[in-house]
Amino acid sequence: MPENPSRNIALTGFMAVGKSAVGRTLAKTLKRRFVDLDRTIEKKEGKKIRDIFTERGEAYFRQLERQALSEVLEQKNQVIATGGGVVMDAENLRLLKDKTFLVCLTASVDVLLNRVGNAAKRPLLRVPNRQQRIEELLAQRAKNYAQAHAQVDTSERTIDQVVDKIIEHLNAAGC
Ligand code: S3P
Repeated sequence: MPENPSRNIALTGFMAVGKSAVGRTLAKTLKRRFVDLDRTIEKKEGKKIRDIFTERGEAYFRQLERQALSEVLEQKNQVIATGGGVVMDAENLRLLKDKTFLVCLTASVDVLLNRVGNAAKRPLLRVPNRQQRIEELLAQRAKNYAQAHAQVDTSERTIDQVVDKIIEHLNAAGC
């Protein structure tokens, strides 16, 4: 199938799974613009995500996220790393499925726990029992993550190996 260089590629998946690191390398490899949705929100608001959560709450953050996603999707030829909760909004998920090749990165709970570290930057994981919180959120989100066009397990792969796997999926899908 022919390549479709203009279709956006978006990465979803749980916090700390590696969306930004993989997205940056994927964009470089494919010579596309890289967009990190959380960084876009931070730039627009002039505040870190954790401060937006603390000062205005999650609902306000989700509004910003919805707005930022619809704006970013007006452009093409991008690799977009989304925040891990973006697909929980039905309209966001519909837009991502419609306007991007949506790849879900996955990892085991142990690996996620390790990559999250002390969770200083991730307000939803600043709880005493992070493992339990990760398991709960994963259970709530599983159905939405499963709707991505492709899934790539990152647990035992390097960033370059994950990028290669994504490119295999893109080629198979003719994107
Ligand atoms: C969130 C994930 C974060 C960030 C916010 C909420 C989530 O992004 O958008 O803290 O609900 O999973 P990362 O997935 O890049 O950590």
